[in-house]
Amino acid sequence: MELDTKTPQYMNNDEKSFAYVSARDRWPVIITGAIDDTYRSVSQCDDPAKLNEDDPLRDDGEPDIAGYNAELEKLGNPTWFNVPWLFSECYLYRRISTSFSLSTHWKQYDIFSRQKMATFRSSRPAVLELAARYKDIITQMNKDKAKKGTPEHDEAEKILFHEMCEICLWGNATDLSLLTSLTYEDIQKLQGSEARKASEKNIIVNDLESAYQVLKKARDEGKAERRVDIVLDNAGFELYVDLILAGFLLSSGLATQIVLHPKSIPWFVSDVVPQDFADLLSALAQPKKFYETQSEDEKLQDKTPEPLSDKEAGDLAFLFQEWGQQYAEGQFAIRPNRFWTHGGSFWRLPAEKELVDDLRTSELVIFKGDLNYRKLTADAAWDPTTPFTEAIGPMGPGSGVNVLALRTCKADVVVGLKAGEDERIRATEGGGGDSGIRKWAWSGKWAVVSYSGGK
Ligand code: F6P
Ligand code: MG
Repeated sequence: MELDTKTPQYMNNDEKSFAYVSARDRWPVIITGAIDDTYRSVSQCDDPAKLNEDDPLRDDGEPDIAGYNAELEKLGNPTWFNVPWLFSECYLYRRISTSFSLSTHWKQYDIFSRQKMATFRSSRPAVLELAARYKDIITQMNKDKAKKGTPEHDEAEKILFHEMCEICLWGNATDLSLLTSLTYEDIQKLQGSEARKASEKNIIVNDLESAYQVLKKARDEGKAERRVDIVLDNAGFELYVDLILAGFLLSSGLATQIVLHPKSIPWFVSDVVPQDFADLLSALAQPKKFYETQSEDEKLQDKTPEPLSDKEAGDLAFLFQEWGQQYAEGQFAIRPNRFWTHGGSFWRLPAEKELVDDLRTSELVIFKGDLNYRKLTADAAWDPTTPFTEAIGPMGPGSGVNVLALRTCKADVVVGLKAGEDERIRATEGGGGDSGIRKWAWSGKWAVVSYSGGK
């Protein structure tokens, strides 16, 4: 303007100015505070008009938007509290996603990616321990090939199948939502083999044997193509252990192909999106660089990361080579589908003709984690002794899909328990006692492994 000074003004991008510090470091804190403030006001507000403002999702061109908005209408345009937990939580992440999908330059941005990789890096002790264990197992299996088909070989394979599945199961205990209550050190303790052994007694439903028999039978019958699907849950450490199980199934011949199902959008903080595969594999491809380059936090704390030993780097390189070869031979497929980020439960899966027909061609479909379990059981308040086959409704017997859920409990819904088991665990320390709250089921300390033969 005419009246403005001709002297250049301070610019936010002047790194030597306070404008820079303010815009870069202070504004994010202020904006986060503003979000917190709005949240407080909303939680104290009882004006429905204010609470329901702007509920429908903005159309970002994806086919699921219409379904979400139709569901909202069917629910009577609810408030954030007067609504089923399962739908509202899915809606929340779908809504966050539209803020990016409707932008010009941030369409593919994953707000959780940094956190996912940082937590994976902090899982270093368990990652290295498992890489060493995996290398031993595969090397031993290759040596024992001549013994295939003998009873002692079958027995050893069965034991390994159980171990690998349990590793894969407990990998679900440490999703990022737990970071709100646990430190990185706590998480490391939960991931080690000692913790796993100590936790065996906490698997309160264990149908692994049925799943093993299904895979073994298909192989014994000489079926040439034997596929196992994994409907994935979390990225980082959990994806790493999922790949360990997948690699084992292929190497042992219990499966000839693995199909992995990630999410299509950033989901429930830690869930796998396709880019997470690339990030994990590039970390494993250059493990020294990944572990020895200072992280942002380490820079701030002036900490130098411990170097990786040659043995540790070698064990990770072995993993990378194995998976790389299996991938090159077409034994791995990654198959995202928008259905996995719908707001409804998996009781609706049979209506997704193409997807369910595809799953029917698999010997076994493994559903990982808490949210998948909630979706299988429709997140309903079942009596805990309800059989799993009943609680998964149309995905149970007759569905054509063999379902195996590997889930550490982080929500109220639980089924398939023996009579009195819920009461027994409620009476343990932190279990909820006679408060009427099933508190034991919230922390990831207990787990269920449930199978339903659908064929
Ligand atoms: O927000 C809570 C929740 O939906 C819980 O069910 C669970 O604690 C977490 O998010 C997701 O867990 P998971 O990654 O195992 O599905
Ligand atoms: Mg998850």
